Amino acid sequence: MKYVIGIDLGTSAVKIVLLTKSGEICLEVSKDYPLIQEKDGYSEQDPREWIERTIEGLQELVGQFQGDVNSIEGISFSGQMHGLVLLDKEHNVLRNAILWNDTRTTEQCKEINKLVGEEQLLQITKNPALEGFTLPKLLWVKQHEPDVLKETSVFMLPKDYLRFIMTGHIHSEYSDAAGTLLLHVAEKKWSEEICHLVGLNIAICPPLVESHDCVGELTMTFAERTGLSPLTKVFAGGADNACGAIGASILSEGKTLCSIGTSGVVLSYEEKKDRDFNGKVHYFNHGKENAFYTMGVTLAAGYSLSWFKETFAKDNDYNTLLNGVAHAPIGANGLLFTPYLVGERTPHADSLIRGSFIGIDASHRRDDFTRAVIEGITFSLMESIEILRLHGKTIDTIISIGGGAKSETWLQIQADVFNAKVVVLNNEQGSAIGAAMLAAFGCNWFTTLEEGVEQLIQPYKIYEPISENVEKYKQLYSLYKEVYKQTQKLSGHLKSFRSREE
Ligand code: XUL
Repeated sequence: MKYVIGIDLGTSAVKIVLLTKSGEICLEVSKDYPLIQEKDGYSEQDPREWIERTIEGLQELVGQFQGDVNSIEGISFSGQMHGLVLLDKEHNVLRNAILWNDTRTTEQCKEINKLVGEEQLLQITKNPALEGFTLPKLLWVKQHEPDVLKETSVFMLPKDYLRFIMTGHIHSEYSDAAGTLLLHVAEKKWSEEICHLVGLNIAICPPLVESHDCVGELTMTFAERTGLSPLTKVFAGGADNACGAIGASILSEGKTLCSIGTSGVVLSYEEKKDRDFNGKVHYFNHGKENAFYTMGVTLAAGYSLSWFKETFAKDNDYNTLLNGVAHAPIGANGLLFTPYLVGERTPHADSLIRGSFIGIDASHRRDDFTRAVIEGITFSLMESIEILRLHGKTIDTIISIGGGAKSETWLQIQADVFNAKVVVLNNEQGSAIGAAMLAAFGCNWFTTLEEGVEQLIQPYKIYEPISENVEKYKQLYSLYKEVYKQTQKLSGHLKSFRSREE
């Protein structure tokens, strides 16, 4: 039997899966790591922590593995997007990584718009300047920690740094590079023009490869530490959302994904390099060669639920909490939640907005609050679906993966709010399975990614929208959309009262 490993370097944990050639996930390991949030809007992690937790995870996986490690043919990656890792000439990490959900860079976004021009930026990168993307972070370091940037020999994205430690080779690949705001998305090359206009040396951009390209083998040190064979082939991998899309078979026009992890995304396949959504949704290169996807992002999707649990229900597990949702009716007895805990991306690119519970009543119980949180997250994702529909996309079937696909009640809520069929899959391992499939494709287990997906992934259950619920949710959704407008100013005024302020 042959095997491949998929490593998903996420925001809350690294998840590692071992996939057999017959399409079975035979081992799965996960190791958590924390966020470092020193100030309001800051979100960082120590890249060395990613490495240590991955090594621990691989050691555990190899320890449980009954077969011969030489039969593990390949490894590939899925990674949290946009995070900035800076390395000096000796390839030491210069500072903590600044993550995708860090919103300190509003000033730098304005600067990019001024220096590059909003039109030109959109034309080259297909995306507007948003706080979460990598370029604003580079400019923040340039302004606030100029010595760090001077010492920088290369910048890396999170999973690219992990792969570098595993192989000794420096690369990025198109699906993650697209989220930097430095890539010419259609031409698939770093933009000299943008680097020049913002005053960055293009030499700090890593060489680019395809997601399924083999970039080398494991270093002897890494192989020895983990117990893997040094001959294991390492493939570039992709952005977590691109890998989520591969693993959910979003590989042809008309296919749409809803993925709820720390963030939540609605993602739709695009075969053209030049469709115009005017920057209202992200437009990135896929992990499939020469394909693309559009995507709307809710910054705090699963994160809203984990925040709620940590703050108000620490002693309960997620199952208990989510089971309670079915005890509250649609609309949570008149309670609405907006998930803007760390600002928002789609449809409101707003780093200052904060979340709210509207309509708290003395009769409300915890189940009402949990339901309101789940419904609020789902409404936020619906706003992305609405944009895609307004641009002419037919979205009648949505594949759901991640935390949102683990609760029957939440899946039905998705079907009712989205007014679409919601499908869950048999091999539902989120982005890690997409990473494993890139390794399997790289190892020539199948001739196309599509063929691999066909062999491995089947619909497991379909949730149909229930028309009575759809109608109720339509009314609630229009109230939900009002909350942003009504709380935007208030959120701004409250900013100065946030104690972890700069
Ligand atoms: C996408 C984004 C998030 C991260 C989460 O633009 O910022 O979905 O990729 O890991």
